[in-house]
Amino acid sequence: MNIIANAIDALDAASVGKTFTEIQANPQLITICTEVSGDRQMALIRIRDNGPGMSEEVRSHIFEHLFTRKEVGQGTGLGLAIARQIVEEKHGGKLSCISPPERGTEFVIEILID
Ligand SMILES: Nc1ncnc2c1ncn2[C@@H]1O[C@H](COP(=O)(O)OP(=O)(O)OP(=O)(O)O)[C@@H](O)[C@H]1O
Ligand SMILES: [Mg+2]
Repeated sequence: MNIIANAIDALDAASVGKTFTEIQANPQLITICTEVSGDRQMALIRIRDNGPGMSEEVRSHIFEHLFTRKEVGQGTGLGLAIARQIVEEKHGGKLSCISPPERGTEFVIEILID
């Protein structure tokens, strides 16, 4: 839910100042897909948005406690720290982020299939 809420926030922020026609021509998308890894060991859940993405510098901090780039009162900077804790500490999985600037963002949750 934290990852999806972030995707919605990123798309909302990117749509400020755009006209309906502009948004229609370039629709905002959140895609969630699941797959099983080639060796059938891991279940992968990919949550992708076609928002603005983030710089390498920002990406290197997003899983830190209290790291936020949102306005005061909009974000506490805990969502992804909690998400990583749930995926990695509770489930022994992996949570990673791929986000080339200007090309959207993809979070990948990897969980071992037993
Ligand atoms: N899909 C995304 N696209 C662009 N930037 C993102 C995306 N997801 C996260 N970020 C960046 O990572 C930062 C940290 O995210 P995180 O969810 O940990 O905190 P937050 O959303 O700012 O606050 P909170 O989730 O606690 O309300 C965000 O402030 C934002 O700058
Ligand atoms: Mg968040």
